[in-house]
Amino acid sequence: PKTTTRDATGQLVIGGIPVPQLVAEFGTPLYIYDEATIRAQCGAYREALARHYPGPWRLVYAGKAYLSVGLLQLLAEEGMWLDVVSGGELQLALAAGFPPGRIILHGNNKSEDELRLALQARIGAVVVDNHYELDLLERLHRDTEQQLSVLVRVNPGVDAHTHAYRKTGHLDSKFGLLIETGDASRAVQRILGMPGLRLRGYHAHIGSQVFEVEPYALAVERLFDFAREMAAQFGVVPEEISPGGGLAIQYLPEDPVPDIDLFVRTVADTVQRAAREAGFPLPLLGLEPGRSIIGPAGIAVYRVGAIKEIPGVRRYVSVDGGMADNIRPALYQARYTAALANRDGPAVTRVTIVGKYCESGDVLVNDATLPEPRPGDLVAIAAAGAYCLAMASNYNLALRPAVILVREGQALLLQRRERIEDVLRREFGLHSSAATVA
Ligand code: LLP
Repeated sequence: PKTTTRDATGQLVIGGIPVPQLVAEFGTPLYIYDEATIRAQCGAYREALARHYPGPWRLVYAGKAYLSVGLLQLLAEEGMWLDVVSGGELQLALAAGFPPGRIILHGNNKSEDELRLALQARIGAVVVDNHYELDLLERLHRDTEQQLSVLVRVNPGVDAHTHAYRKTGHLDSKFGLLIETGDASRAVQRILGMPGLRLRGYHAHIGSQVFEVEPYALAVERLFDFAREMAAQFGVVPEEISPGGGLAIQYLPEDPVPDIDLFVRTVADTVQRAAREAGFPLPLLGLEPGRSIIGPAGIAVYRVGAIKEIPGVRRYVSVDGGMADNIRPALYQARYTAALANRDGPAVTRVTIVGKYCESGDVLVNDATLPEPRPGDLVAIAAAGAYCLAMASNYNLALRPAVILVREGQALLLQRRERIEDVLRREFGLHSSAATVA
């Protein structure tokens, strides 16, 4: 999707509004989401599923990519389900009025409080990751007769080609129950023996920013191999199968263009074939995209400040944000493209765009090619919608950026800029009860 364009004066435009106009109103750093792109990405998944999967299906947005109340309300309108991974995310979703029955709770170390909250809120399902969690559920369930739907998270032993920090489905991973050790089948057996739990099916997730579709076909096959074993041992047939999320997005012009339709078709075809071979009815197919829904829809906008020339070496262009709002380059060597948002022109100079935080690794773009940048210019980073704000911190006591949603010439504040009062509120001095702002 084309999230941004240029107007006649060369200004970058998103959602029908020139970026400088948005900056004049909301300041920098600013994260801007284009509503049309979010809806288009949801639509692309829906259409692909409708085209390629004759059975029931569900689209579950992985909230860890980016969450806010306004976004959740939009996604609820789109008919999405939601994957949360903590009590915090669950509470935000409930505060947004997101339908609890469409929420799925994930996590490799869910606390008793988180599970209790999930039960009280009557969420759609819990994805069981380990036996400790089953111990907790066993205890919690003694005092409630309500049934909780669960999926078993299986480690499929599939190695996705992505950054090591983003792999989740290979053997040596903290996530999921291993098939080889019998842990996964023991979990199934335990769940079947717990009247409060209803086993819905099996789940796997192989990684994130995955370009190839073959690993997904493999993961689905592993899930069905396991499902057949469980059918043979315990007579249970899965009502639901989910190979998780993780489809890549394009960050750079040279990246392959990920194809939602091809991804969905590959998974859908594999599920149909595997179900036929196993003699199972078509299960509900769950998909859990995060990045590919929200990533392309967001841009980050910064203002240029200091510019430092090291002759023959490099030119550093410092902006007023950085690793506190986008740690991905520092953490994963993630690469982004940058453009000036307040004016256009031939890209004539190579610069390194760095943040303002006290760390040399605070780089946003190593090798941006731009028109000659000047202090006061606006720099926009594309495809910044996923895992930037979601991983933002107060490092150096940075305040989190404002976030807006644009649609058809209108801008809506989703999250106001963090204020120093927000941060000071949780400080307690040795002699006073709370810090105050001078
Ligand atoms: N389902 C499960 C169980 C997951 O663990 C994840 C991501 C997703 C779905 C969604 O994956 P997506 O479609 O967004 O790729 N911070 C890293 C990414 C971590 C992803 C963690 N799990 C990054 O910035 O690249």
